[in-house]
Amino acid sequence: MDTAWIWLLDRRAGRPETPLPADDAGRDRIELLRPFAEAEGRFALAHLGQSIDGHIATGCGQSQFVTGPCNLDHLHRLRALADAVLVGAGTVAHDDPRLTTRRVDGPNPVRVVLDPARRLETSHQLFHDCAAPTLLLCAADRADQAAGSAEIIGLDDLSPAAILAALAMRGLRRVLIEGGGTTVSRFLAAGVLDRLHIAVAPIIIGSGKGGLRLPEIAHLDQALRPPCRTYAMGGDVLFDFDLRGTATEA
Ligand SMILES: NC(=O)c1ccc[n+]([C@@H]2O[C@H](COP(=O)([O-])OP(=O)(O)OC[C@H]3O[C@@H](n4cnc5c(N)ncnc54)[C@H](OP(=O)(O)O)[C@@H]3O)[C@@H](O)[C@H]2O)c1
Repeated sequence: MDTAWIWLLDRRAGRPETPLPADDAGRDRIELLRPFAEAEGRFALAHLGQSIDGHIATGCGQSQFVTGPCNLDHLHRLRALADAVLVGAGTVAHDDPRLTTRRVDGPNPVRVVLDPARRLETSHQLFHDCAAPTLLLCAADRADQAAGSAEIIGLDDLSPAAILAALAMRGLRRVLIEGGGTTVSRFLAAGVLDRLHIAVAPIIIGSGKGGLRLPEIAHLDQALRPPCRTYAMGGDVLFDFDLRGTATEA
């Protein structure tokens, strides 16, 4: 394990601060991940990997993999620092993801699937593999059907703010929203994200599933322009947006 990663896992666990690693790559990683690792209250970070023309998957939903191995390592580090990783039903339907930290050393987060209308098959692996606890969030009147070993949580209010509040009530305060585009866009539009990571890969898909989609604006001065830093990740570039203090509307 590299020293920067050990340092970040220590910070996540609230262990006393040790000296910062000296090398530049380690310092960059710490700068990028420190806000998530050290968050004490509620903190929601969303990540998407997209092509240079703004697509996160092909038209039939294939997204493995838009970005390269460095960004995948980064995504697994985010999972290891999170209390919970949340994805929408469309992502489970298309990717059948495990949402574990198998590319890095670190704990698996609780997995949260947002499927309001219970459209998903219950055969998906994260409902059965027991690699980490899985919560399925749905409308209160759809909570009667089981899904493997997942805990079914019916909510009257499935707005992003209500979802984060329900997770925080369970001690899940540091939340990674990992997709897809619909889900991340809803959390962004609701103004509940603290941080947004968009990894841009130098590929042109040309068509397919879009990433962020927000209500239409007429003037560019209404566009979101949050503070942003960029990080090279192999051949990809990660944009790290600090959304705290950014006013957005649902
Ligand atoms: N590149 C990346 O970073 C990345 C990350 C994650 C996912 N992805 C890709 O993004 C795509 C999914 O994103 P998304 O925006 O469509 O959805 P999503 O945000 O994962 O999930 C929310 C939506 O899924 C819909 N949905 C679509 N097909 C479904 C199905 N077969 N069963 C149940 N629900 C379904 C739900 O519809 P209702 O509201 O009508 O129920 C809901 O609106 C996939 O192709 C996945 O591979 C890419």
